[in-house]
Amino acid sequence: MRSPRRPSFVGRAPEMEQLVRMLGDAEAGDVQLAVIHGPPGIGKTRLAEEVGATAERRGGRVAIGGCWQDGDAPPLWPWRAILRDLGAPADLIEERPEASDRFARFLAVLEYLRSSSRRSASVLVVDDAHLADPASLLLSRFLARARSLPLLLLLTRREQAPVPSSEAQQLLSELERDAVAIPLEGLSEAAVGAYLAAAGAPAPDPQLLRAVAAVTKGNPLHLRSVAVQSELRTGVHGGLERAIADLIDRLDPTDRRLMALSALIGPEVSVFEVSRVADVSPALAAESLARALDLGLTRDLGGERFGFVHELVRQLAMSSLPVSHRLEAHARAARLLTGDEAARLSRRAHHALAAAGRSKEDAETAVRIAREAARALRAEDGFESAAALLARATEIQAAASLAQPAAGLAVERAEAVLACGHLAAARPLFQQAARVAEREGDAEALARAALGLGGVWVSEHRLAADAERMLALQRRALEALPAPQTVLRARLAVRLAAEESYRGGPLAAVLDSVEAVRRTGDAHALAEALSLAHHALLAPEHAWRRPAMANELIAAAAAARDGLLSLLGLCWHAVDLFLLGQPAAGAALEALRIRADTLRCSSILFIVRGMEVMLAIRAGRFDEAERAAEA
Ligand SMILES: Nc1ncnc2c1ncn2[C@@H]1O[C@H](COP(=O)(O)OP(=O)(O)O)[C@@H](O)[C@H]1O
Ligand SMILES: [Mg+2]
Repeated sequence: MRSPRRPSFVGRAPEMEQLVRMLGDAEAGDVQLAVIHGPPGIGKTRLAEEVGATAERRGGRVAIGGCWQDGDAPPLWPWRAILRDLGAPADLIEERPEASDRFARFLAVLEYLRSSSRRSASVLVVDDAHLADPASLLLSRFLARARSLPLLLLLTRREQAPVPSSEAQQLLSELERDAVAIPLEGLSEAAVGAYLAAAGAPAPDPQLLRAVAAVTKGNPLHLRSVAVQSELRTGVHGGLERAIADLIDRLDPTDRRLMALSALIGPEVSVFEVSRVADVSPALAAESLARALDLGLTRDLGGERFGFVHELVRQLAMSSLPVSHRLEAHARAARLLTGDEAARLSRRAHHALAAAGRSKEDAETAVRIAREAARALRAEDGFESAAALLARATEIQAAASLAQPAAGLAVERAEAVLACGHLAAARPLFQQAARVAEREGDAEALARAALGLGGVWVSEHRLAADAERMLALQRRALEALPAPQTVLRARLAVRLAAEESYRGGPLAAVLDSVEAVRRTGDAHALAEALSLAHHALLAPEHAWRRPAMANELIAAAAAARDGLLSLLGLCWHAVDLFLLGQPAAGAALEALRIRADTLRCSSILFIVRGMEVMLAIRAGRFDEAERAAEA
């Protein structure tokens, strides 16, 4: 993975000292967390690599996971690379047939790290964490809080880089508050001299050295291009971008175009992909890529694959392509790139969305590919990315006034937002989806929207008029559904029966409708039905019935890999223990709190807090109750 001309490591003594001290603390079993931050090219990744090398020399392990560039990330992207590097079983967090929700995956990772830890500490690096998806940040937070784990967790973050979502931004700030900050500035003049000597550049006199240090601001990436160009005798150009642009300018126009197209395709490309998108022979593409490698712009990843030496180089290579050509290239990439796993689809969706403005046809393609990618992402627990992609697809659908039906897209988006645990944000989206579905006569979308509007609890709508409207909608949706839609029909029936029973309707109807759902064999529908039925059975006389129901719900939610329903199951389980006056209730509540907090599910945390207040009051601990109520 390393470029052959990689200069030896210089300077950074105080930072190394601090990080090696943290490594020592990690070796004693105390997880350590540091965030290395600074401008692009300053040496964040390299510093992390050097700390890793130190850990390896002491008998520990190191693994680095870069974050996804260009748009919506497949879930846990950097962690997949980290675990692959460590040699963890591939199914630890990637898709696997047997059940596992997000929390289960986090636990599996923790277990793996614990069981595979060596006598020294591991250094795990989430590189470019400003681009990390929320799940990756949640997992980082979870591990950083683990006890007795010999781990030094390093995050690198580019300063002032926009973070893709406010959710990721919040998580990152939170992580940074708990972390040791390692800010990086330019290398010292002495380090610059050492760098140039190590790179084999002619030794500059002291004045020139000072000038180089000043002009490059001690930025090693800048120094790198200076050294490659060996322009120390003729003077140094100003600006990091300028130095890289000069390097790119050395390519002839054909090579430059191929470089630009490679950059547009992604941070890592294969000869084959470049040849398809550029419409040239593979031999020609391979030769061009080899010349860029010689110039030090790319690195050889093996197997006819290449990567850019730095994201800044990639961005600048791409910018040499005129905007109209760029759109065209995105459209070609969306059409020609292959593969249907989530990562490939995310990349194709990025290209298709970028090209959507070209024509109505391109807009249609973009919506279609975004929906496919979102489906794949959801199947891999990438709810946040799926929701973001579907939001963009919705914008494109509206902006291009596409004739194709919109109800399916609208309801998929609302469901993705709900799966993120954003109950309040999902509601208006379901409302909108229901309106569109009625207008378009899409019975399936209408049923899904009506179910989503019900929310996760029974009787969520506080205002009687709202509740009536929702029930009427659910009845209409059930009537409109054709008979073969057995799962949706059964789900609506449970929902209606549970809402009725909450208003004094017969319980038998709820239990019968749960049985009907069970017969469909759909684990997700069953978990949802059991949760609603449990809610309907809260009166004291049903206490004996509820625990088994909660347990079955927990199992069904795990089988359906639904994190939100799993949390609901644990929530009902804790409630049952309390209502039965069981001593295990406290531990169950604590387990629920940890899980909801790990996944950052605010609606469940809200309930946990409510239960904690009640408990404190019951135990006569009024001060504590007050504090909990304020939190
Ligand atoms: N202290 C250093 N000594 C030698 N080379 C360095 C040093 N820091 C960074 N580099 C080199 O400079 C280039 C940019 O560094 P990198 O770590 O990728 O920057 P960042 O991650 O901050 O964007 C890389 O080629 C890297 O190997
Ligand atoms: Mg970096």
